[in-house]
Amino acid sequence: MDYFSESIKKAIRTVPDWPKPGVAFRDITTVLQDKTAFRKLIDAFVHRYHGEEIDAVAAVDARGFIIGSALAYELNASLVLVRKKGKLPFDTLVEDYELEYGTASVELHKDAFKPGDKVVLVDDLIATGGTMLAASRLIRRIGAEIVEVAAMIDLPDLGGSRKLQEEGLQVYTVCS
Ligand code: PRP
Ligand code: HPA
Repeated sequence: MDYFSESIKKAIRTVPDWPKPGVAFRDITTVLQDKTAFRKLIDAFVHRYHGEEIDAVAAVDARGFIIGSALAYELNASLVLVRKKGKLPFDTLVEDYELEYGTASVELHKDAFKPGDKVVLVDDLIATGGTMLAASRLIRRIGAEIVEVAAMIDLPDLGGSRKLQEEGLQVYTVCS
């Protein structure tokens, strides 16, 4: 583990049995509350993409917005919101994805990218990978190019990052 990962990992609070028995929930609020850890977190992403040609950062509702907005600002890139269904006011594209029980949907404004835009897709955490996969499909449908799918935390036992790689996506996570 590198300099960034180790100190950020220490700042993550794991809450047992939330939201239901058996789940060890990774709570990122403790990273955000810790000004040193929060700065290191954003620095890790900035360091990763600094000097690369990135047109836009696409951030996933809701915790991805926190990282995505700071990263877009630092990279001098635009910020695009991938939202849960029913939140975007203009014409949208929709992708459904599986949850443990039932399905959910993410949406993107049709004019969010120009074809060929180079995009980093950001969220706080990859679990099953369903959310990131649905978001990446939206971005590809508009014709933008996903440079990388990036998250603060990977839960590798849930297989999400592997699934994303199998779909041809490059994946970066700060810690697992
Ligand atoms: C969490 C997390 C990711 C997603 C990861 O969000 O912030 O977006 O789940 O899970 P997956 O890899 O299995 O798809 P959640 O859907 O709980 O929404 P929230 O950010 O609005 O709380
Ligand atoms: N933390 C935050 N979001 C999540 C988690 C978690 O541990 N698992 C699935 N989504």
